[in-house]
Amino acid sequence: ADTQVGQLRQIHSLAADLFHHILVNTEIGETALKYLHQRGLTDETIETFHLGYAPVQQVLLPFLEDRHFPRELLIRSGLFTENDAGQLYQRFKERVLFPIRDPQKRVIAFSGRLLKKNEKLPKYLNSPETLLFNKRKVLFNFDLAKSEIRQHGFAILFEGFMDVISAYQAGVQQGIASMGTSLTNEQIYLLERTTDRLCLCYDGDDPGQKATARALQLLQPLTKLELGVIPIPGKRDPDEYINQESPTAFVKLVKDGQQNQMSFWFSFLAANRNLTNENDQLAYISDILEKIATVASPVARDLYLGQLAKRFSLEKRSLAGQLHSLLQQRA
Ligand code: UTP
Ligand code: MN
Ligand code: MN
Ligand code: MN
Ligand code: MN
Repeated sequence: ADTQVGQLRQIHSLAADLFHHILVNTEIGETALKYLHQRGLTDETIETFHLGYAPVQQVLLPFLEDRHFPRELLIRSGLFTENDAGQLYQRFKERVLFPIRDPQKRVIAFSGRLLKKNEKLPKYLNSPETLLFNKRKVLFNFDLAKSEIRQHGFAILFEGFMDVISAYQAGVQQGIASMGTSLTNEQIYLLERTTDRLCLCYDGDDPGQKATARALQLLQPLTKLELGVIPIPGKRDPDEYINQESPTAFVKLVKDGQQNQMSFWFSFLAANRNLTNENDQLAYISDILEKIATVASPVARDLYLGQLAKRFSLEKRSLAGQLHSLLQQRA
């Protein structure tokens, strides 16, 4: 199995080089290269992330067969699909390729983004699980981000690979992303060994806000990481924000726009309510009290209680009473 792992690494390294070469040096890569430039990526960034293009042509199979890799191993690499007649086909076609690297900077998988919109195909396609690739364990860009996370004292979790890459180019280099799923214990452990703070910087649209709320609820009981949120104004994702505003605007947002968890809940729970309506007010106050009850520090709880009381011109004492019974239910 060790030699298989070694050979699978070779296959991935060769595949990454081939697809990168096609993107930057060949005519069949021209459209994809233009696409990436239009999205604001520089040649330097394309090099740093070793981005590639998988054309519709079957380029990978002959390339690897020439190097005498056994067919069995090609199947195991996850880079091919097999049809009923037993023929191998390149899995990624007409997709921009994002190599997924392990912490030792070795390519272990790919994510491919469709170049042209196609309703019948998923926008992003990832490698299947292989001997090299366990998507529960991988954090995209962790190898490059690690020292930056240490230096700045916090990690930033994005929804998409393009967000990580755009942010990196803008100078915010402590960004990571999961493989399109919520964080697993393995990924949390990796982060906890590196830092004590994690900021969520998800898309500013409705699904992104809901995903932020879900992620906070999931992470809060699982981790000692201090959790924060960097909200993106205007229903855009971080990549769109960087391109429409500017790289420096994003750097500033990361520096000055961090919310703690409670500020996020204060605004998120207000979002679909009419807070001039009494029933909505009561529901909101009760939801916020539930959140305050999960805060460990008594001083912080008192601070938030004060904010809530002030907002609705209430006696802090009555809120404290309700909070007290919530805390007792939990104990
Ligand atoms: P988004 O739809 O927000 O994509 O999905 P994006 O990152 O902004 O991509 P661009 O800007 O259109 O290129 C966020 C993440 O969800 C996962 C991917 O990891 C993606 O980066 N996803 C999305 C999938 O796994 N499959 C899909 O078909 C779509
Ligand atoms: Mn830095
Ligand atoms: Mn989205
Ligand atoms: Mn997005
Ligand atoms: Mn996007």
